[in-house]
Order: sequence, then structure tokens, then C-alpha cells
Amino acid sequence: MKYQSQKVAYWFFALSMLLLALQLIYGFIMGFAHMGYDVLHDFIPFNTARAVHTNLLVVWLLSGFMGAAYYIIPEEAQHELVSVKLAYIQLITLALVGVVAIVGFHFNYWEGRKFLEIPRPLDYLVVVNVLTFLGIIIATLYKGKQRTTTSLVLTMGLLFAALLYLPGMIWFDNQTMDSFFRWWVVHLWVEGVWELIMGGILAFLLIKITGVDREVIEKWLYVIVGLTFISGILGTGHHYYYIGAGKVWLIVGGVFSALEPLAFLAMALFTVSMYRKGEKKHPNKMALNWTLGTAIVSFVGAGLLGLAHTLPSVNMYTHGTLVTAMHGHLAFWGAYAMIVFAIIVYAMPNMTGRKFYDSNRGQLAFWLSNIGMVGMTVAFGVAGVAQVYMERIMGLEFGVVQDEIKVHFLILVLCATMFTVGIALFMYEFIKYGRPTDEALEIEQ
Ligand code: HEM
Ligand code: HEM
Ligand SMILES: [Fe+2]
Repeated sequence: MKYQSQKVAYWFFALSMLLLALQLIYGFIMGFAHMGYDVLHDFIPFNTARAVHTNLLVVWLLSGFMGAAYYIIPEEAQHELVSVKLAYIQLITLALVGVVAIVGFHFNYWEGRKFLEIPRPLDYLVVVNVLTFLGIIIATLYKGKQRTTTSLVLTMGLLFAALLYLPGMIWFDNQTMDSFFRWWVVHLWVEGVWELIMGGILAFLLIKITGVDREVIEKWLYVIVGLTFISGILGTGHHYYYIGAGKVWLIVGGVFSALEPLAFLAMALFTVSMYRKGEKKHPNKMALNWTLGTAIVSFVGAGLLGLAHTLPSVNMYTHGTLVTAMHGHLAFWGAYAMIVFAIIVYAMPNMTGRKFYDSNRGQLAFWLSNIGMVGMTVAFGVAGVAQVYMERIMGLEFGVVQDEIKVHFLILVLCATMFTVGIALFMYEFIKYGRPTDEALEIEQ
């Protein structure tokens, strides 16, 4: 670590880990409910568990991205963060808003819009919080000695993500209109601007780990940003097929969303080729694992499994089924959870001065979580295809079909257990590293 203020990142990572642990508990509640053991129904019905599970996911990923920015920006800009105190206030308020929202969900204090359940008054607090965060990051960049492409792409991603939160706050009386703009947030985040955040963090990690010239790595970033925007913006149309938004989206959405995997393919090729090109053998092998892992798994989860149901003729059958959950899990895990894990694993030894590189526990955490998640994806996929066939082709009633596919959730819960053991090992390593210290300044490799 080169700058004292980078230590702020640690606390954002710690919040991330805490919220992830909670997210998994709610995942299990739903897994068991699907198996027929909905024992908590009176206190935590399925819809509550689902909203908590997905919102916790978004908040822990955002906290991870913020931690990443607080770590990366000082180093790239060669300047301390302009205000560490404000960054801590921002952390605490983020955690408070998150907790109030999650508790509120249990008392039906929410908006019933998937992923955007946070009630309006809290939305305004989120906006203030994110503005504070962006203020600190942009002021640091402005005062810094250099503005690299990596830091600009990361900041642009974060800034656009904040702006794209706003269309979700417009009030509509019309369901189609509401749905139309909800996708500006949900789709344009994960298939647009979050890819810039991912690309920025990935470029930073590759520069550090492989030792390949910054110029070479940053050239690739332009390609990724270009491919993301060309395909992702109009690709939003793949959510407009059958919501009452007009027939033109069948062709526009179909064609452009089918091109979206190219951006993820470019990221995977870029990461693997930089790894091959790199001569520097960085001792932090786990950081390399998670970096290569995120590039490859995101291509499979987002690119290939996204492509699997993006054409109108397929989506007509699969929309809103467990096929969507199959893709949602591997895409979020590969692209955004793994990139957060990668920056955590890279930053921890630098912030604490303790070098637990390449421990067996770290390796096990990587493999168990990944194999577990692939297993979960397969279980969701098999259940999803069975659901589509029975519900949408044979015409059986929803509840009857859910009863038929219970058995797949036994497999899901078993794989989720393996996944959770991996995550628990990762968290154990995180805790073992301890707190960041000023003694770690400058001893980074
Ligand atoms: C990292 C990137 C991605 C993430 C995290 C992600 C995640 C998700 C999630 C959570 C949903 C469900 C959203 C909801 O119903 O509210 C969804 C839906 C969908 N995704 Fe992705 N996705 C990603 C990339 C892609 C790509 C690249 C494609 C196409 C090639 C794609 C195709 C789709 C389609 C067609 C749906 C709609 C499914 C339905 O109609 O139920 N996704 N995605
Ligand atoms: C212990 C591990 C987990 C279990 C048992 C689990 C289980 C579930 C279940 C049962 C659902 C609801 C599906 C339905 O609507 O019927 C769900 C939704 C979801 N989970 Fe998980 N999950 C786990 C971990 C994760 C992780 C680590 C992520 C992200 C990296 C994630 C992302 C999501 C998303 C995005 C949805 C919404 C999918 C959609 O819109 O269709 N889950 N999860
Ligand atoms: Fe989308």
C-alpha cells in the first residue's frame, strides 16, 4: 500500500463480507422453501426472502466496488483521498440505509419492483450517499498527479451507475412505463456501466499482477468499453419483447443483445492473453486465480447463459422462470462477486503487511465456491427447463409444477452448501489477515 487513506477500503470490504453472509442465509431460506420446507413462512415469506437476498447482493457488491475505488484511485492518481473522515461517514450511512431497508422489507415497507424494492424516502438517502462517495473519488482524481485510463474508466462506470439509478425513481401510474424504465436501472447497470467498473478493476489488477505495460492493457479497455456500449445499450430491448413496448424491440433487442457476449469474450481473451504475456511472477497467486476466474466465469454465466435465453423465440417460453435464476446466479457471481473477491485478495496483504499468499485454505475457498456455484447453476437450469416444459408447453398450473420440481432443490441446497463452505473459508482468511496498518505502507510487491 502506498497511501495511508487506502486503508478505508478495508472497512468497505468488511461490510461486503458481512452482507454476503446474510445474503446466503436468505438464499437457504428460499432453497428450503422450494423443497417444501417453508417453515419460516409466517415471519419471512418467500417474497420477503427474495427481496432481501437480491438487495443484499446489490448492496454488498456496491460496497465492494466502493472499497475497490477507495483502494485504486489514490494509487492511480498518486494522491491521498481528499477526506478520509467523509469516507467513513459515507460507509456508516451506507450501512445504516442498507439495514433500515432490509429490516423494512420484513414489515412490508418496500416498493414491489424486483431489484428496486427500496422505498422512495430511502432512495433519496442512497442518492446523497453515492454523491458523497463520487465527490471524494472525483476530487481525489482532480487533485492527483495523473489521470490514467484505468482510473477514468472505473470512475465513469461509478458515475454512470449513479446517474442510472435515477430513472428508477420516476413515478409512473402505467405498468409498462414503469417496467420500461426499471430496465434502465437493472439492465443498463449489469450489462452496461458495471462492466466498466469490472473492466477498470480488472485492468488495475492485471497491471499489478502481470507486469505487462499499462499502454497495452489500457488499449484493451477501449475495446471492451466500445463493445459494451455498442451491444448493451440497445440490448436493453431483450426485456421489452412482451411487456407492451412495441414489436420493433423483438428485432432490435434480439440482434443487439445477441452481440453482448462479445464484450465478455473480449474481457476473457484479454485477461488470459495478458496473463500469458506477463513475465513478472507475482507471488499473490490467489489474486491471479480470482482475476482469471472472474474473466472466464463471467463469459460463461453472463455471455453464454445470457445468450441461451435472449432471442425472442426462446424468451417467450423462459421469461421469469428458473432459467432466469440459473443465468442470474452465474452471471452475478462470475462478473461482479468474483471481481470484488479478486480486489480483496489482492489488497489485503498490501493493506495489512501480512502475506498469506497461496495458502491451501485460500485455494480451497476458490475451488469449493466455484464448483458449488456451477452445481447450483446446473440445478436451477434443470429445474428451469422442466418448469418451462410442464408449465408453458403442457399447460400445467404453476403450483402443480413447483411441486413436481422440488427434487432439484435438494441438489441446489447440497451445491449451495459446498459453495457456502468455500465462502466461509474465504471469510476466515479475510478475518485472519486482521486490520490494515500504517506499517504496511510501501512494502507492497
Ligand atoms: C454480468 C452481466 C449480467 C448479469 C449480472 C445478469 C443478471 C441478470 C438477472 C439478475 C436477470 C433477472 C432480472 C430481472 O428479472 O429483474 C437477468 C435477466 C436476463 N438476462 Fe442477464 N445478466 C447479465 C448479462 C446478460 C447478457 C450478456 C445477456 C445476453 C446475452 C443476458 C440476457 C438476459 C435476458 C434475456 C434476461 C431476461 C430473462 C427473463 O425474461 O426472465 N444477460 N440477467
Ligand atoms: C447459499 C447460496 C444461495 C442459495 C441457496 C440461493 C438461492 C436462491 C433462490 C432459491 C432464489 C429464488 C429463485 C426463485 O425466484 O424461485 C434466488 C434468487 C437469486 N439469487 Fe440466489 N442463492 C444463493 C446465493 C446467491 C449468490 C452468491 C448470488 C450472486 C452472486 C445470488 C444471486 C441471486 C439472484 C440475482 C437472484 C434473482 C434471480 C432472478 O431474478 O431470477 N444468489 N437465489
Ligand atoms: Fe438485460
